Amino acid sequence: MDQDQTRRVGHGWRMTGTLAAALLAAAGLLQVAGQAQAQAQPKLKIGLMLPYTGTYAALGNSITNAFKLAIEENAGKVGGREIEYFVVDDESDPAKAPDNANKLVKRDNVDVLVGSVHSGVALAMAKVARDNNTLLIDPNAGANELTGALCAPNIFRTSFSNSQPGIAMGQVMAEQKKKTAVTLTWNYAAGTESVDGFKEAFEAGGGKVIKEMALPFPQVEFQPYLTEIAALKPDVVYVFFAGGGAVKFVKDYAAAGLGKTIPLVGAGFLTDGTLEAQGDAAQGLLTTLHYGDGLNNPKNNAFRAAYMKAYKTEPDVYAVQGYDAAQLLIAGMNAVKGDTAKRAELVKAMETAKLDSPRGPFALTRSHNPIQDIYLRKVEGKENKVIGVAVKNLTDPPRGCKL
Ligand code: BEZ
Repeated sequence: MDQDQTRRVGHGWRMTGTLAAALLAAAGLLQVAGQAQAQAQPKLKIGLMLPYTGTYAALGNSITNAFKLAIEENAGKVGGREIEYFVVDDESDPAKAPDNANKLVKRDNVDVLVGSVHSGVALAMAKVARDNNTLLIDPNAGANELTGALCAPNIFRTSFSNSQPGIAMGQVMAEQKKKTAVTLTWNYAAGTESVDGFKEAFEAGGGKVIKEMALPFPQVEFQPYLTEIAALKPDVVYVFFAGGGAVKFVKDYAAAGLGKTIPLVGAGFLTDGTLEAQGDAAQGLLTTLHYGDGLNNPKNNAFRAAYMKAYKTEPDVYAVQGYDAAQLLIAGMNAVKGDTAKRAELVKAMETAKLDSPRGPFALTRSHNPIQDIYLRKVEGKENKVIGVAVKNLTDPPRGCKL
């Protein structure tokens, strides 16, 4: 029968073929629209709580850039959902952190918190995340407790624990038969836990830390400490500094003439993202970290090229950690097709995710901290060149984590 001929529909109703076709088409459209509506999910709200001012500003920017790069490489979506960012400058100030995190969670209703750089800020964020059962991904701060006593199913870290780079350097210095060390750092969790890691491994290998020194964060008046180091004449000096403070410390150490007589080593933050500003003062410094600029693996090469193309600058370790924070979120959200209500499945997928990281593949401990190779790096020109693996597959103790 021709569509323009009258046809019988149902019981006794008659209409033209054209009308019937139009109605069928309209019904089809309605059905498609209905399905789309049922499937359309609201944008995923991501709260980026990071430092954009102060001594750690560059670190916050690197993390943000690379986090967004990973999302862009995933067609701008996470688990099929588009993204809405809520960005807060936390100023690396732990005192402001509870308020900042609570605003993101309670006022902005973010689905995910990402942050921060400073251990004290991240610890406050972890408390808010635990209280509200909000998913938290830490893309830098190394506070041991975060994946220790404060661990939770909803808290993940894609960076390191503060002790990891310290343990690796302690081991390397003991292997190099250094007998005495002096340590210097900022007096807060990142510095003290980094030094603790160094001391534990150095002394286990036969060395002795003869003096531990610290100054308040983010002070950079290093002169009195340099004078004391010169008087103590240790075999090696181990420090934790990062960002703007690391730039100043390395320059001050060289300017004091200490670089020629007492080797300076540190957790890799001392020379990461800082070499342009440190110039000659940094040449030859040895550090330990879970990343190195020249790591020759396909993912690192692609990541470095893409980051350079997008931001016209070289990426650093903070960028790698931010990139992996987004990769981890994508892995979890893809597994639940964007449905954050499927929390148990989401967490499981994140816990078991096989991330192709620029640092090389890594797994997570039960408490959600990376188990990873810690590289020995040497500054050559503008590069933290990997000269060996200081510790292979370094894990992290549970430190009271009950999961
Ligand atoms: C921290 O506070 O945990 C931290 C800050 C900068 C670099 C590394 C660790």
